[in-house]
Amino acid sequence: MGIRTKYRFMVKRPNLHGSRLYRDISSMEPKAVGPVVPLTWKKAVDFSVYDDKGNKYIDLTSGIFVANAGHSNPHIKRALKKQIDSDQMFSYNYPTRIKQQFLRKLLAISPAYFDRVDLLMTGSEAVDVAYKLMKLWASKHKRRYIITFKGSYHGRGLSNDQICGSPTKADWSGVKDKDVKFLEFPYEATEKFDPSRLPPPDQIAAFMLETFQGWGAWFYPPGYINKLYAFAKKADALVCFDEMQSGFYRLGPVYGYMTYGREIQPDIICVGKGISSSLPVAAVITRKEIAEMDPSADLHGTHSGNPLCCAAALANLEFLSSPAQLAKMKAASKVFEAEISALAGLPGVKRINARGMIAALIFDSADRATAVVNECIRNGVLPVCTRKNSVKLAPPLTMPPQVIREAAGVLRDAVVKCEGT
Ligand SMILES: Cc1ncc(COP(=O)(O)O)c(C=O)c1O
Repeated sequence: MGIRTKYRFMVKRPNLHGSRLYRDISSMEPKAVGPVVPLTWKKAVDFSVYDDKGNKYIDLTSGIFVANAGHSNPHIKRALKKQIDSDQMFSYNYPTRIKQQFLRKLLAISPAYFDRVDLLMTGSEAVDVAYKLMKLWASKHKRRYIITFKGSYHGRGLSNDQICGSPTKADWSGVKDKDVKFLEFPYEATEKFDPSRLPPPDQIAAFMLETFQGWGAWFYPPGYINKLYAFAKKADALVCFDEMQSGFYRLGPVYGYMTYGREIQPDIICVGKGISSSLPVAAVITRKEIAEMDPSADLHGTHSGNPLCCAAALANLEFLSSPAQLAKMKAASKVFEAEISALAGLPGVKRINARGMIAALIFDSADRATAVVNECIRNGVLPVCTRKNSVKLAPPLTMPPQVIREAAGVLRDAVVKCEGT
């Protein structure tokens, strides 16, 4: 112990096996919702997380890709306090000024052809709505198939399970959408988009894509998305990106799909997480022609567009899209990419994926990756534990270069120390 820098201090050994608090909460929740790392969070400010033992960590998780603007961002806190003091904390789906302002801002930072936003609370809900829209589009245009990728993640409901992971993900339900076809994810840089593996183009309704494959920050190989997109457009199929982790400047531009080329213009995007850096907000962003195919389609819920959520999200987008923050982030992400890429060749590291402010170290085993995460935590740096053979890194977009360098140094030492794992 005894680590004390400006950005980290470790006064007591963190309890990685679960505190009394963790055990008490676990006795009331299903096992499947428990934390991967049972560290007690006391508070989080900007890129720092504090536990209950007085330790301070550099956060390389942004919560879980949420706190793009930093934790407890002062601009967002001010907006929330103002909203609370206005005595408008809930408004069902009645019109409110704060919702109007937020919708305007969200559309203003999005490509101009998008003109409809369905506000929701969670990413899973957003993907559920996107699934509904793709299915409606399929039946309207007398088509069948949604094409998606094995190994992807799109949330936790029944519709989500139909289109993510593997063709057996929804087997628990006994309900199977036979019109969803899974492609192998192209993990190798040399892999090409191969339309011969697809059903006939005039039978394809939509492509559902995670902008990068979450668990290991896997991006599609150069040219792959461009070919897929050109094919989809020629076939008149919808293209939907799940931007849950990649949205709101994490990869540089406002949406991550934009890093594949200017010509990529999805019909639907699902966003959440970093949209508010805090409160539960998600959205499906699309065009009128798609959003209004069936006016009776149920796309709204009790808390959709909640005023506090809108206030937090509006303040967050104002902060993230400001020229000053964008310039700082651009500089920081160059340092992040360089620092993380420099870890290539360390023992056990098979590959490094990095773009903007997201990265993953791919290891030869899940045990080794978990050992590296635990070693980092003991040294005051908090990476994402995926339980797979990857260590994932997603700092708040406010993290300055010197903190990135310090965290990368800790990560390097942890990888070296875990060599024998
Ligand atoms: C790519 C992706 N899609 C959807 C979801 C589901 O979002 P939520 O947990 O807010 O329901 C997640 C959550 O991790 C995600 O990473």
